[in-house]
Amino acid sequence: MSGHISFRDVTKRFAVRDRASRRRTEFTAVRGVDLDVERGEFLVLVGPSGCGKSTLLDLLGGLTEPSEGRVLLDGAPITGPGLDRGVVFQQYALLPWRTAQGNVEFGLEAAGVPRRERPGRAREFLDLVGLAGFEDRHPHQLSGGMRQRVAIARSLAYDPAVLLMDEPFAALDAQTRESLQDELLRIWRRTGKTVVFITHSIDEAVYLGQRVAVLTSRPGRVKEVVGIELGDRADGVDLRSSAEFARYRHRIWELLHDEVSRAQRQEKEVAPV
Ligand SMILES: Nc1ncnc2c1ncn2[C@@H]1O[C@H](COP(=O)(O)OP(=O)(O)OP(=O)(O)O)[C@@H](O)[C@H]1O
Ligand SMILES: [Mg+2]
Repeated sequence: MSGHISFRDVTKRFAVRDRASRRRTEFTAVRGVDLDVERGEFLVLVGPSGCGKSTLLDLLGGLTEPSEGRVLLDGAPITGPGLDRGVVFQQYALLPWRTAQGNVEFGLEAAGVPRRERPGRAREFLDLVGLAGFEDRHPHQLSGGMRQRVAIARSLAYDPAVLLMDEPFAALDAQTRESLQDELLRIWRRTGKTVVFITHSIDEAVYLGQRVAVLTSRPGRVKEVVGIELGDRADGVDLRSSAEFARYRHRIWELLHDEVSRAQRQEKEVAPV
């Protein structure tokens, strides 16, 4: 399976209208981002709010294009959305009029999977995310965590090489979040997909990531990439309370803390009193 990602000196600017002068100006969201994600790697992106994390994910998803630099997938520039990449957003983007099963089948339909193969495939992936028995429920009959599982099943079912996840567990309670983290790790190990995962939770970043890329405040650049070596997350081992885990958590906290205070200072400088 493919799935190597490269950001090469990527800058993204947006055209905005300045409120005071009413002139068009440009706003730099990310500047000079260089980052490689290996095939099959689990990379986590963290950074202050507004630093450009979702912008980077949108570039990978092919929803926008870089203003400068290149975003490559297996050496080729990304030119638009594709079935080689599955996206999971923070808000469960499910079709309300379709059942869990119907939502997963919808993804398969869009991917051109033959009709007769869709029901079995959809069931298999709902089962994989722990939703066997809930196939016929509509989104409003499911909890937030279950809806997010459906969204994950939908992205996994058509077997993209790359999984792009933008704060997918942010709205969930701690227990559901932890169990989905474990499920995601299990699926990742089993399928060998490349995962790019955005979070605001340092614990989540350390628990999930093989590497954690910390971005600077706006315009975002890669400040530091921290390699996480925590060994096996075997069942029953409380990895989160180990001393190593605490060290990684503290390291990332320090890196982020600097950036958040820098961002706040910047805002004070530009904000009218
Ligand atoms: N289409 C757009 N037009 C203009 N500005 C935009 C656009 N999309 C994003 N931005 C700006 O680019 C910056 C980065 O936004 P982005 O959504 O990537 O941040 P983020 O790191 O994901 O933040 P958060 O952690 O809050 O989700 C923000 O200042 C945002 O206002
Ligand atoms: Mg975002």
